[in-house]
Amino acid sequence: MAEFLSRNEKRTKYCGEFTSADIGSKVTAMGWVQRQRDLGSLIFIDLRDRTGIIQLAFDDNTDRAVFDKAFKTRSEYVLSATGTVRPRGEGAVNKNIPTGEIEIAVESLKVLGTAETPPFEIVENSDVRTDLRMKYRYLDLRRPDVQYNLLMRSRISKLTRDFYTENGFIDIETPYLVKPTPEGARDYLVPSRVHNGKFYALPQSPQLYKQLLMVSGFDRYFQIARCFRDEDLRADRQPDFTQIDLEMSFVTVDDIMEVNERFLKFIFHEIKGIDIEHPLKRMTYREAMLRFGSDKPDLRFGMEIVDLTDILRNCAFKVFAGAIANNGYIRAINVKNGAKFSRKEIDALAVFAASYKAKGVAWYKSAGGEISSSYAKFLTDEENSAVREAVGFEDGDLILIIADREKVVCDTLGALRCHMARKMDLIRRDDYKLLWITDFPLFEKDDETGEIDATHNPFTMPVEDDIQYLDSDPLKVNSTAFDIVINGTEAGGGAMRINDPALQDHVLRAIGIPEETARAKFGFLMDAYKYGAPPHGGMAFGLDRLVTLLLGLDDIRDVIAFPKMQNASELMSECPNIADPQSLEDLGIAVVRSEE
Ligand code: AMO
Repeated sequence: MAEFLSRNEKRTKYCGEFTSADIGSKVTAMGWVQRQRDLGSLIFIDLRDRTGIIQLAFDDNTDRAVFDKAFKTRSEYVLSATGTVRPRGEGAVNKNIPTGEIEIAVESLKVLGTAETPPFEIVENSDVRTDLRMKYRYLDLRRPDVQYNLLMRSRISKLTRDFYTENGFIDIETPYLVKPTPEGARDYLVPSRVHNGKFYALPQSPQLYKQLLMVSGFDRYFQIARCFRDEDLRADRQPDFTQIDLEMSFVTVDDIMEVNERFLKFIFHEIKGIDIEHPLKRMTYREAMLRFGSDKPDLRFGMEIVDLTDILRNCAFKVFAGAIANNGYIRAINVKNGAKFSRKEIDALAVFAASYKAKGVAWYKSAGGEISSSYAKFLTDEENSAVREAVGFEDGDLILIIADREKVVCDTLGALRCHMARKMDLIRRDDYKLLWITDFPLFEKDDETGEIDATHNPFTMPVEDDIQYLDSDPLKVNSTAFDIVINGTEAGGGAMRINDPALQDHVLRAIGIPEETARAKFGFLMDAYKYGAPPHGGMAFGLDRLVTLLLGLDDIRDVIAFPKMQNASELMSECPNIADPQSLEDLGIAVVRSEE
């Protein structure tokens, strides 16, 4: 049976905060049993809380009843221990922990909570299976490294609020039950009981509301906002995630970038002690795709993409000639010192490339002058040496070539570049490379359906000089959208918004959204613009991603208290789950298809 805290029973301080200055003081410590060591006439208990560990000692001088209670405690029991702080005995000092020179000689002990044997040991950096950790997430969250991540996240959120507040931004909450917001993912729908057959959506972002706040004259808004998107999950995606969302009036893109660069500088300084260079590098979308095959290039290493299309335009090799005949491109990366990879390892790259729709990877390497290649024999000597020269090839290197449609070439080489850099151990975790990607195309064409859609969202302001092409050549129109990329991750994105109803109409027409549909979906925004909308724009950082990057982690789940698994389920509470029949009845909903 657990014992109760008495009214005046307070802990003196957190376990990890006791120091030699407390020697001789009578203190109370509370926490969880990390481990209990029974040495016969001596018992030691390591008592843990979120600040660290303090050692409790029980010996010949301890009251028998207290000693017996200590004897019976097990891992993860919750205790309140009162006693006197004393130096540890000769040879018992533990230099590895801050409280390692002292212990509490316990005089009274309460068991505030008992514990079954946990399914895994509560230790730092444990390699327990993810599904087991997630099922018992409340235990996993006791681990010091996981606690550290969440404490840092809390600090980052606080610094974020400080920064934007001090820079004149007003923190305003926007609703969670909304009309669908167009961020390009599927919506999570919430059925209405009061209006049977009608649905709210959970916001994919506060986009429309923050624009309306600009119309209302708030001028600078920010919010740490939860967002909900029903999309395929990856290591950097969760169905419910958090944005640092902001919007500003009477500004240009440069103004938005300027204040947010200062935010990044501030947060990197406070959290990492790193002074990032300011202003940040900017690169157009086109340049990023050409040089890095990605709109989120990782600039911590080189291995840039080189275009070989002109060099190989008349070559006899069918694979290359075929790609060119289909208006495709031939591009390559040179993996420095990559000749060490075996034939088997190089063959495996073709499998990797296939997941980006590439039909194969052409390669060339030489080690100690001995050349091997999948394509060299089909090219002339001149073509081979032109290729080597173009990519800066030296003995010991490995050239990887993709010939295909431009999208496939970019996607595959962009991914191969990162894959090879990881294999070659070229990426330093404590190195941070930040840049803006600008000049995104306003529209993109779906490869399969041929349909044109907004790249960012349909409210993004086109570049002024390109507005003339909206009807004649929409794919030529660039937008004011930009992303912030940190170490190959899209950490945020934003844009100037259209604030003119006529231009908004025009853009919606260009992506084939009929007026009635536009009215039904965002009529309220279009109406608002009739009443004086200031020029405005903004952006949103993915907070989970930013924290993950700042802490040097790989998976955003490590910085989220209760994350979802790959299949969007939460193992601990077993959600999603079936609904109570009465609730469905009230909502006027019948389930016609279910998994079970
Ligand atoms: P966007 O859709 O680019 O822009 O989202 C902004 C940032 O949010 C993060 N992010 C995610 N993080 C975790 N899980 C997800 N599923 C997820 N989806 C996005 C990314 C991304 O860069 N309303 C616009 C912003 C604006 O224009 O002001 C928006 O939501 O880091």
